[in-house]
Amino acid sequence: MAQDVPIFQAMPWKSFEPWFKKEWRQGQHGAIIGPTGFGKTTVVVNLLETRTHALALDVKGGDRTLAKLQAKGFVRAPWPLPDKVYRDIRNGKPARFIVGFKPRNTLEIPKLTKMIDLCLHDVFSQEGWAVYVDELQMAASQKMMNLGAIIETNLIAGRDRGVSILTSGSSSSRPGTGKWWTAWPRWPAGHERRSRAPSGAWAARTTTWC
Ligand SMILES: Nc1ncnc2c1ncn2[C@@H]1O[C@H](COP(=O)(O)OP(=O)(O)O)[C@@H](O)[C@H]1O
Ligand SMILES: [Mg+2]
Repeated sequence: MAQDVPIFQAMPWKSFEPWFKKEWRQGQHGAIIGPTGFGKTTVVVNLLETRTHALALDVKGGDRTLAKLQAKGFVRAPWPLPDKVYRDIRNGKPARFIVGFKPRNTLEIPKLTKMIDLCLHDVFSQEGWAVYVDELQMAASQKMMNLGAIIETNLIAGRDRGVSILTSGSSSSRPGTGKWWTAWPRWPAGHERRSRAPSGAWAARTTTWC
C-alpha cells in the first residue's frame, strides 16, 4: 500500500546552519543517522554550539569528535554541576558542558552510566537544556546503559518542559511529540537532491561529504 510520505530536499550546510538555528526552538528534537565515521558527531558539534544552555553527553567516554566542542567553549564536567553554574544561568550567562569522563577500565563504565542517568533525570526537572545524546543505541540499549526510558521521557515531555534532545546513532528513532529533524551526513547514491523521509521529518546534509 502506498504511503503518504513527505518529500524533502537536501540543503547545503552553509544555508542549512543559519536556517536551522532560526527554526530550532527549545523543546524540538533532532536525530542524526548514519554509520560510524560518517560525520554524525561533527554535525551535532556544529549545531550544539548555537545553543545557550547545552549539554553533550559523552556516552562513549572520551569521544574525540565530541572533544572538539571544547574549542567552541564547552567545558568537560562531571554531573551534577556546581551551584555556581546555576547562579550564572540566572544571571543570564551561557552554560555549555560535555558531561562524562573517559573510563580507565570497564569497571568504571557503571560510574559513567550512573552519571549520565542522573544528568538525564535532572535535565527533565531543570528544563531548558539542549542535550546531545551521542550514540543513542549505546545509551538506550538494555545490554549497555539501559537509559532508554529516561531518554524517551525527555523526548515526550520535551516540548512542554523546553528540553531539546539531539541524538545520533546508526538506527532511527521517533519522537513522542514535537517537530523532528533528521540529518543524514551523507546521502545514498541517487538521492542527492530529493528523497523520502519518515513521516514528519526534515532533512539536512553536510556538503563536504558528498
Ligand atoms: N563534513 C566533513 N568534512 C570533513 N571531515 C569530516 C566531516 N564530518 C566529519 N569529518 C571527520 O570525519 C571523522 C568522523 O567524524 P565523526 O563526526 O566522529 O563521525 P561519527 O560520529 O558519525 O562516527 C572525524 O575525524 C571528523 O573530523
Ligand atoms: Mg560519533
